[in-house]
Amino acid sequence: MIVLGIETSCDETSAAVLKDGKNVLSEIIYSQDKIHEPWGGVVPEIASRQHVKIIDSVVKEALKEAKIKLKDIDLFACTKGPGLIGSLLVGFTFTKSLAYSLSKPFIGVDHLHAHIEAAFLENDEIEFPVLALVVSGGHTSMFYLEKPLDFKLIGKTRDDAAGEILDKISKFLGTGYPGGPAIEKIAKNGDPEKFKFSIPLIKGGGLDFSFSGTKTAAYLYIKKGVVSKESSELSDFLASFQKSIIDHIISNIEKALDDYLVKSLIVSGGVARNMELRKRVSERMNARNIKVYIPSPRHCTDNGSMVAFLAYKLYISGKKDGWNSDAYPRFREGEKNISISSSEKIRKRYK
Ligand code: KG4
Ligand code: ZN
Repeated sequence: MIVLGIETSCDETSAAVLKDGKNVLSEIIYSQDKIHEPWGGVVPEIASRQHVKIIDSVVKEALKEAKIKLKDIDLFACTKGPGLIGSLLVGFTFTKSLAYSLSKPFIGVDHLHAHIEAAFLENDEIEFPVLALVVSGGHTSMFYLEKPLDFKLIGKTRDDAAGEILDKISKFLGTGYPGGPAIEKIAKNGDPEKFKFSIPLIKGGGLDFSFSGTKTAAYLYIKKGVVSKESSELSDFLASFQKSIIDHIISNIEKALDDYLVKSLIVSGGVARNMELRKRVSERMNARNIKVYIPSPRHCTDNGSMVAFLAYKLYISGKKDGWNSDAYPRFREGEKNISISSSEKIRKRYK
């Protein structure tokens, strides 16, 4: 079975061809980083226009590399949400129209679920129950999966996403875009204990995240002139800033592990490319005997393979979309964090 997976939820245009749910025959990822660099962040209208310009050639290239024709595709898949609505609609309309014109099935997948599936695409031995964290420029969300495809949202950011504050502070300092990799590079030789950032405490927040306080603290250090792009303490400052983000992520994972007894942890999304995060999460989970699965850096970022793979799994489990289905910019209505009381029940069940 051949699946074409298309991803356009933010600023990457990607198409991948997947055979029999395991062999990636081709994957093209076109990044708009250079286009958004002058603004220090993704400009939604520019992103959707760029998708319109490029999507046709990205798909053609993916077909060519896979050595197949459009008529060979059995299932057409794309990202349905959440994401930038203009960007999503380009991929969604393009994919749905192709499927309709060829009378083939069509599936729109959830972007965050697809990020998690990138780990299963690369490793088919992941044991359930699973705790999964998606940490990117647009999202910081935690899921509990008791069994395959059973995604339960148990925590999400109340304000900014982790990648978003890395991008914003890097923009404010003038250290480059995207901020995550730029900061990681400078922070490498810095002292992470030099500058103080407190871990956010969210009253009644359960497993939710909050990054806006850390962003404001970093902003004030810069605004008051304590640190600048030119100062000798820049690497210490950025190492401390990066550490505070990782500390918050790890502290929430550990909180979740008090409620949910899991065998595996998945960390995915653009920020999961960060080597310090990968290292620290792995060390902490080793100590708890929990196996950690972090996709390869290429598959942490937005890509068509994860879309094709999730759509394949949904399709063989009997799901497909109707022609009247639509894209959605935010979490689907009704998809709220499950409460701690229900998580307590889950813990009891696995005792
Ligand atoms: O998953 P992604 O490609 O797009 C979204 O869905 O948001 O993630 C992009 C985010 C950006 O905020 C970028 O700064 C961050 O991932 N990022 C990193 C690294 N590489 C990308 N953050 C920390 N360290 C990195 N090496
Ligand atoms: Zn993403």
